[in-house]
Amino acid sequence: MVLSLLIPMNNTKNDTIFTHIRDHYKTMEGYSSAGMLSGKDAAKTYLNANENPYPLPGLEELNRYPEPQPPALLEAYAQTYGVEHTQVAMTRGADEALVVLTKTFCEPHKDQILISSPAFGMYAVDAHAMPSGVVDVPLIKADGAFTLDHEEIVKQAKNPDNHIKLVFICSPNNPTGGSFSHELISEICEALEGHAVVILDEAYAEFSKAGSMAADLDSTPNLIILRTLSKAYSFAGMRMGCMLCGNEDFISLIRTKVLDAYPLPRMSIEAAFHVLSPDLKPVVEENIQKILAERTRMHEALEQSDKITHIYPSDANFLLIEMDKTKEFCAFTAENNVILRDFSSRKGTENCLRLTIGTPKENDMVLDLLEKFSA
Ligand SMILES: Cc1ncc(COP(=O)(O)O)c(C=O)c1O
Repeated sequence: MVLSLLIPMNNTKNDTIFTHIRDHYKTMEGYSSAGMLSGKDAAKTYLNANENPYPLPGLEELNRYPEPQPPALLEAYAQTYGVEHTQVAMTRGADEALVVLTKTFCEPHKDQILISSPAFGMYAVDAHAMPSGVVDVPLIKADGAFTLDHEEIVKQAKNPDNHIKLVFICSPNNPTGGSFSHELISEICEALEGHAVVILDEAYAEFSKAGSMAADLDSTPNLIILRTLSKAYSFAGMRMGCMLCGNEDFISLIRTKVLDAYPLPRMSIEAAFHVLSPDLKPVVEENIQKILAERTRMHEALEQSDKITHIYPSDANFLLIEMDKTKEFCAFTAENNVILRDFSSRKGTENCLRLTIGTPKENDMVLDLLEKFSA
């Protein structure tokens, strides 16, 4: 199979994303795995991939490499997220998509990414690993919530001295919990067209009233969206996520030149079919509703406590909670086998902890411990 890249030369809007990719990816050949070269046909004998011919008992077929991007699973993702299958590249969690995108766009020792702290920590970790720099345009705190400093983001991302390739926006944002409006994100994308690519991390979108911006992908050439089955689909253990992009040539480049030869474990692929099946859809929806109801209950209950100074509005499956003795409270709950995430030493989330919404019984344990805690 020839893995050359077809770049449509007559469509400058669609070409936008290619202007930002590291040059060598445009010309290098991708790896052609044995499976890619020969296909899979049950009637044939395959002695071309150095696989072991003897599967272990109970582990049939696991002696064989998996399909890199099974077409039927791509279709299931596409239907789930409302895009074409050609606009999806499946990854080992959204985490792998982050590494892959940083690697695709950022030239080590030269290019930088832009984040808005408090932000998901992996954006900066992946950039530093290149190594690439990180420009931080912190979120603005106003009226007890966080919002994007969109003017400063655009200014910094357009500054040629900064060499910004990727602008990360997470909505709903981890760890703050709130969403940013689609209008604001669109405005940033539009202002940065020709300057930088916007990576919109929608890991928690299923818990949000704002929903996804996938419908805007076709008209927004510098937008890439990340999704995951780890959160709303209760599937963190199988490591399945994806990136979505309106430009199918870009997706083809990612699949054939940047991702590993066999990025998805066979068991994860099989289980993902089940997770995305119509049978499980009502269960997934019911679980989301249970989490949302508990999020509201916990917000209201925690607000009653004079030990809590603020709870940030959340569109995700967690609450960012501000209190005077955060460290001490996290230590106290840990002593009682309830583990919370202490964010108090991070810039922008001073005095804050992040509480993942659990089952009603688990959440009650937190309320009980809060009552017992002597501040
Ligand atoms: C904002 C955000 N993006 C991405 C991820 C990674 O998700 P995955 O489990 O799909 O790798 C997480 C995980 O917590 C997250 O909070």
